[in-house]
Amino acid sequence: MSRKKIIAGNWKMNMTPSQAVELVNTLKPLVETEDADVVFCVPAIDIIPVIEAAKGSNIQVGAENMYYEDKGAYTGEISPAMLTDVGVKYVVLGHSERREYFAETNETVNKKMLKAFEYGITPIMCCGESLEQREQGVTMDFIRQQVKVGFLNVTVEQAKTAVIAYEPIWAIGTGKTATTEQAQEVCKAIRECIAEIYDEATAEAIRIQYGGSVNAVTAPELFAQPDIDGGLVGGAALKPDFGKIVNWK
Ligand code: 13P
Repeated sequence: MSRKKIIAGNWKMNMTPSQAVELVNTLKPLVETEDADVVFCVPAIDIIPVIEAAKGSNIQVGAENMYYEDKGAYTGEISPAMLTDVGVKYVVLGHSERREYFAETNETVNKKMLKAFEYGITPIMCCGESLEQREQGVTMDFIRQQVKVGFLNVTVEQAKTAVIAYEPIWAIGTGKTATTEQAQEVCKAIRECIAEIYDEATAEAIRIQYGGSVNAVTAPELFAQPDIDGGLVGGAALKPDFGKIVNWK
């Protein structure tokens, strides 16, 4: 079975709404492809203008975070219904920056995963080790825990549609991409972990991205690996280079 690639930009806390519209207009003709799903995950305030600007293109729009309650007294949070109401299809959950700066845990990520599925939003669940963990030799122990807790109570049918982004923390924003071998090795192990939790068919269906200093030069080799189904791209998603990454073949 062949999985369709999914190449997503994570804009992080960049681009005002007017800059966002300009960027979408620049990138729209560059990211055209039939071979991959193309997703722009953008700051909450940019979602509506980006959806408007992306109309008629192949760009799908995602959020960078979401809360796990339906609604209520949660000042500053964005609910899943707010996202689906304007046409959001994806949400990044558990990015390492949110785990580090905003107290996201495997448990809150799991609650958000369940909520996203309930609303028909596809989660892009991030996992990945720190440099210290890699040096201690506990990379896969740590990632397996992130994946196993993140997917608690997620049904087999839901899991098949999920996206996992493997992002080694030491490779994010550092210009230091993991080697192709390192990225493939961990993405394969994540797929095996999914097979253990569910079954082979689910492991075959789920899409696993690599993220961490992906650029137009490193993307082709990474995306050609058997267990790497695309990328989650930070810095390079804000530049015309993103068009080359999307059209990596
Ligand atoms: P960079 O591509 O800037 O390293 O960011 C990766 C990332 O964190 C995407 O979510």
